Amino acid sequence: MKVGEFRDANRKLVGRTVWHFDAVESTNETAKEMLEGDLEEGLVIWADRQSSGRGRQGRAWASPPGGLYASTILRPKEPHAWILGLLMGMPVVKALRHFGVFAGLKYPNDAMYQDRKMAGILSEGVYRRDIYHVIVGIGVNTNVDLDRLPPDVQAHATTMKREVNLFVANDEFLDYLLNQMDDLYSRYRNTRIEFLLKDYRGQCTTIGKRVSATTSKGTIAGKAYDIAGNGALVIMDGANVKHEFVEGQLKILP
Ligand code: BTN
Repeated sequence: MKVGEFRDANRKLVGRTVWHFDAVESTNETAKEMLEGDLEEGLVIWADRQSSGRGRQGRAWASPPGGLYASTILRPKEPHAWILGLLMGMPVVKALRHFGVFAGLKYPNDAMYQDRKMAGILSEGVYRRDIYHVIVGIGVNTNVDLDRLPPDVQAHATTMKREVNLFVANDEFLDYLLNQMDDLYSRYRNTRIEFLLKDYRGQCTTIGKRVSATTSKGTIAGKAYDIAGNGALVIMDGANVKHEFVEGQLKILP
């Protein structure tokens, strides 16, 4: 059920309007349903909990009350769902740092604190009425006790509540995050994507580390070396052969 609506006319596009729901299945799905109507670009669907939150690669995203679950509707000129999802990792990490968590950005867009995941992004491209839309869904473990997450997730996840002493209200966190996303999206619209990918490369803590990457084609191990022009992670294996990795399972090796 929709429980509120907020406006911020100072924002350029992202988050000029936010619709607040108490519970939805998935904010990405609610956002997609909205696409049938005429809605403004940058509309945000925010929920207090999700009954079937979704993660990347068909995984579930546990969404108990206390966490932050929000999806933003964008209409880029190019079909850049993947790249936008990648770039939006930067505002998420910036917001976490602003509120006292020294988070790192694991490729492609996981916000990590000491090797445990605190936030994730599911970015989806959809055509509706011949118009290309991108739904950027962000989940942040803000005010959640770790034991409210599924047992298999607990070993690899953490929450702000666990790592910072200060209580941060979700509306406050969302407000800061949307400002950062708005700035990033405006840069995306006005500058060349190479510049943004360069910034991303500088912020991605996976670069320089030894990794193993598993895709449907198999597993390769090597050093995370660069971000390609298409947003792929370039991995250099032991024989100095470069491989491009986009989706699959990426492990940071000790
Ligand atoms: C991941 O790291 O696997 C991505 C997690 C994305 C979760 C968010 S929560 C808001 C939005 N709605 C969803 O169902 N998923 C995204």
